[in-house]
Amino acid sequence: MCAREDECTGFMPLPTFARTAAAHHADSLDGPAVALDAVTRVYRSRAGSVEALRGVTHAFAPGTFTAIMGPSGSGKSTLLQIAAGLDAPTRGRVSIAGTDLGRLDATALTKFRRTAMGFVFQSYNLLDALTAFDNVALPARLAGQPVDRGAVLNALDRVGLRDLAKRRPPELSGGQQQRVAIARALHTRPAVLFADEPTGALDRTTGRDVLALLRNLVDDGQTVVMVTHDPLAASYADQTLFLADGRIVGHLRDADADTIARRMNELERA
Ligand SMILES: Nc1ncnc2c1ncn2[C@@H]1O[C@H](COP(=O)(O)OP(=O)(O)OP(=O)(O)O)[C@@H](O)[C@H]1O
Ligand SMILES: [Mg+2]
Repeated sequence: MCAREDECTGFMPLPTFARTAAAHHADSLDGPAVALDAVTRVYRSRAGSVEALRGVTHAFAPGTFTAIMGPSGSGKSTLLQIAAGLDAPTRGRVSIAGTDLGRLDATALTKFRRTAMGFVFQSYNLLDALTAFDNVALPARLAGQPVDRGAVLNALDRVGLRDLAKRRPPELSGGQQQRVAIARALHTRPAVLFADEPTGALDRTTGRDVLALLRNLVDDGQTVVMVTHDPLAASYADQTLFLADGRIVGHLRDADADTIARRMNELERA
């Protein structure tokens, strides 16, 4: 018997924000960047209940690039939302850089999300009326924090857009807009960058540029977790997790796009 749940699972005890700050640098983080422990998510509605995740356990190592693939409805977006603290598991635990999200109250979770996690979506979610610079600075402004111009320009620099900081989204290509969204996500130097179909709205060539950028960020120490339908996109990752019916049913490491596509086909036929 364990006196506390922590001792049973081997998870980190109480969170400290100091530790999270250290987690910005993959080398200084000894535990996983993200850990899911027996995560279940049941959606309940009048129509009945859907078990979108059924006991998912996985540790995402710091400084790695993971792709999540699986048939439509297999639970990919649910997994990403829960791993990122945007949604809470029905059962199980999620920790990011050693912080158990279940132990944070709503205010602490919002604050933690703002600094420790970055999000990139298929549809960029930029404000057309603001310049690239102001889009990157917006989360800090909304949080009532002073804008660190150097940090904003550095984030734009990391995505190769420092020279276009004064442009507004309608004056940028789709790929450039997604880069601005990535810069916005990187601005706080998050422990983990989560991306749900980041290349879904881009043509193949532009999509590859964005994937190469994500790959470079990982090579510089960033942890990235990306949901994708595209085996070519997944081939940029270090490993691909396959979900089916709410469970992790396999993974491939350093696989090429053809191998990943074959595994996906098998899953979709199953
Ligand atoms: N808010 C919700 N209420 C009820 N059921 C939901 C809700 N969100 C998702 N689901 C159900 O949970 C399951 C997993 O959904 P999820 O969106 O995670 O799948 P996905 O793998 O991301 O699919 P896709 O590839 O189509 O984006 C599906 O059966 C879906 O219908
Ligand atoms: Mg989805």
